[in-house]
Amino acid sequence: MDLDKLQNQLSTLRAETTTAIAGVVTMDELRRLESQTTGKTGALGAWMATIKEFPPEQRGQVGKTLNQAKGELTKLFKDAGEKIKAGAAAAEASKASSYDPTLPGIRPPVGSFHPVTLVQLQVEAVFQRLGFLIETGPEMESEHYNFEALNIPKLHPARDMQDTFWLTNGKLLRTHTSPVQVRAMERHGTPLRVIAPGRCFRYETIDASHENTFHQVEGLMIDRNISIANLIAMMKLLLREVFSQELSIRLRPGYFPFVEPGFEMDMSCLICGGGGCATCKQSGWIEILPCGMVHPNVLRAGNIDPHEFTGFAFGLGLTRLAMMKYGVADIRGLNSGDLRALVPAGRISGTTVAEKPPC
Ligand code: PHE
Repeated sequence: MDLDKLQNQLSTLRAETTTAIAGVVTMDELRRLESQTTGKTGALGAWMATIKEFPPEQRGQVGKTLNQAKGELTKLFKDAGEKIKAGAAAAEASKASSYDPTLPGIRPPVGSFHPVTLVQLQVEAVFQRLGFLIETGPEMESEHYNFEALNIPKLHPARDMQDTFWLTNGKLLRTHTSPVQVRAMERHGTPLRVIAPGRCFRYETIDASHENTFHQVEGLMIDRNISIANLIAMMKLLLREVFSQELSIRLRPGYFPFVEPGFEMDMSCLICGGGGCATCKQSGWIEILPCGMVHPNVLRAGNIDPHEFTGFAFGLGLTRLAMMKYGVADIRGLNSGDLRALVPAGRISGTTVAEKPPC
């Protein structure tokens, strides 16, 4: 081994390293190449190990030559590293400057009213035009307003018609919006036109058309000479307004202790078009409007003289109405918080802005 040969080989190594560095793109690749070249086990390291093979008088010179080569190579790597870092920073900067503010943005999801709210607002609008007040009552109700004042005394079998959540404080979760009838009579007297939308609760087994929490709108009209004809006309008008079409309806006798006579008004099922489905229990009809003439005992409970005044009342199933209107086949979707159940209404609310209240 002689010094000339060493110097030759070192300049070859320098040339090769310069070429290799030119092809390197990332810092990782560069570090790998550096350790293969100047690292202990790299090419230069191998040369260092050969120092002792030189005659002793040359060893100093050999060491110097190798150190000088190491310094040069290290500088090559340092410079290349800086270049790569600068290139990465420039790429970042150009990425940022390629942001185009004229491109359309990402639309944030827009909220919409719940189907039940939409129908409630619509029903309220119909009745407000007809001069009805909008009343609310407490969801935690007394036995008096929920049952007794409505002609359902203790031990009356009709209490079983509405499975009740009783509370430990002696009150209950109202099973219907009818308690607001008597509250409104007490508060406003006669003549009276009032609707009362709100949440009701029943201790029910849940299926496609039954929920333990649902919405109703109670309606009550009391005046002199109010008859069943007024009731039917009003109910037809309501359904026509809500569905924007004349619907098939049918009236059946229905029993509710607080009305006499009482009726069930059904509308043809809009989910299946009357052919029968799970929502209408295969009957093609949906029970939507229980109603009737206010029972004299209820008028008395509201301090109204039944000899002078008559009235009609109805309890509109708002939840069912929303299902019909927006084609929600399963009631369970409505309270689940699952946005997919709200999609039909979302679509409609997006196009019929008039259904939203000015707020
Ligand atoms: N409150 C009754 C119910 O929820 C419905 C109803 C209201 C019936 C008014 C007649 C008159 O079942």
